[in-house]
Amino acid sequence: MPQPASLPDLRQLFAEDPHRASSLSWQLGGMTFDWSKLHLTSEWLGTLQSQASDAGYGEAIDRLFAGEVINTTEGRAAEHLAERGSGSDDSVALATARHRRMFGLIDAVEAGAFGDVTGVLHIGIGGSALGPALLVDALGRRERRYKVRVVANIDGQALDEAISDLDPATTIVAIASKTFTTTETLRNADSAIAWLQENGVEDPFGRLIALTAAPQKAVEFGIDETRVLPFAESVGGRYSMWSSIGFPAALALGTEAFTQLLEGAALVDAHVREATPDANLPFIAAAADRLYAERYGAGTRAIFAYDERLRLLTPYLQQLVMESNGKSVSVQGEALHVPSSAILWGGTGTDAQHAVFQLLHQGTHLNPVEFIAVAQGADDQDAAHHRALLLNAFAQGAALMAGKESDDPHRRYSGNRPSATILLDHLDPQTIGALIAFYEHRTFAEAVLIGINPFDQFGVELGKSIASAIDDPEGREGFDPSTRALIEKAGL
Ligand code: F6P
Repeated sequence: MPQPASLPDLRQLFAEDPHRASSLSWQLGGMTFDWSKLHLTSEWLGTLQSQASDAGYGEAIDRLFAGEVINTTEGRAAEHLAERGSGSDDSVALATARHRRMFGLIDAVEAGAFGDVTGVLHIGIGGSALGPALLVDALGRRERRYKVRVVANIDGQALDEAISDLDPATTIVAIASKTFTTTETLRNADSAIAWLQENGVEDPFGRLIALTAAPQKAVEFGIDETRVLPFAESVGGRYSMWSSIGFPAALALGTEAFTQLLEGAALVDAHVREATPDANLPFIAAAADRLYAERYGAGTRAIFAYDERLRLLTPYLQQLVMESNGKSVSVQGEALHVPSSAILWGGTGTDAQHAVFQLLHQGTHLNPVEFIAVAQGADDQDAAHHRALLLNAFAQGAALMAGKESDDPHRRYSGNRPSATILLDHLDPQTIGALIAFYEHRTFAEAVLIGINPFDQFGVELGKSIASAIDDPEGREGFDPSTRALIEKAGL
């Protein structure tokens, strides 16, 4: 791998410091964070405090936790922390009351207010789908009390599949949309209502529940106010799984599990609030991300979950990081002189080892990798499975760093390739809450270091407005010849 001249040699860093493995590993929220196989030197670690103060990280954190208007381009606070107990008293009280309302509706479902309920069709997209889908898939494999199906794509095949094993007579439909205007979600909602109707459900609207920051729009859609679960406008879509957007997870996993999820996140919030920059794990991780992006030119970062239960983690984190920090201008609107956040990609191990790891071991890119594994397995198979899974995860990190000499250039591995490992003790609601909060804070810290606003997403909005303009034959005239030809070819 051609390397930036200043890239230190990891093997040498370990040789020079016998305590490196322990001094660059930390414990938090039932997780071990091992950052020792990243190119972090003691000299760099000594700059963390000044990096934080130069970027104004302390003030930014104060403003975030106080619920001040830090999403300046949209004139809003970013109050997802209030969902787990941090923020202005009013916002925390409101979030708590709204959780109670959500739990009350769950009690009503359980008490039979909707008749016999066996399943939930959750309709939403982006931040209104990825969180609940991840939680239910990760935590609800064994004891899920209801069948949960999540549909996001406007492609009818996605809805076909989602309803294929749901019984319309015993299914409730949760329509999750912060704005309650998103085309995909409203299209899928209309089709789901038609599905209920066509299958003999007398009052399909009576089976709908809205999860939204625009309650009035949900009521106008035809959902009774008693079945609208609101959350605050100041909670961003990709930060919203802690709010009523998490309804299907709270229903399927139980309200106690949902409370533990919030507690896990609160634990990381407290850490971020209290730790100095050189001991603040999300800040250290974000500063390391900047080191690779800015000094060493790494354009991507890969995350591999060595646990099938976390197979939806990478898509979740892709939205969190890339929608938040994929920006070209600073908070003040000036062009950035540093790269925006790295492209996040990844998958699950060990599958990915036999597909994309070739490039990681021998490709020419510098590509920091993150391994996420869970010490305690949960499968019904021989313990050899989980043991091999974990050993594979650790072996990959070791091989990326160590490399291997050979006289044959095709069989040579340069090594000195960076990886970080997060090892969870168990996968439970509290730990997954802490894990996701860690990534949220890391994303925020990286935004502060870059100098951008992580809470808007104007890039996606251009695509949304163009998609509706293109549906209008007159509006199409303004489109380029290539696009017009494609529309014609498809017969639209
Ligand atoms: O695509 C942009 C986006 O606004 C995401 O940020 C959001 O999570 C998603 O669309 C869904 O939006 P809504 O929850 O308003 O339907």
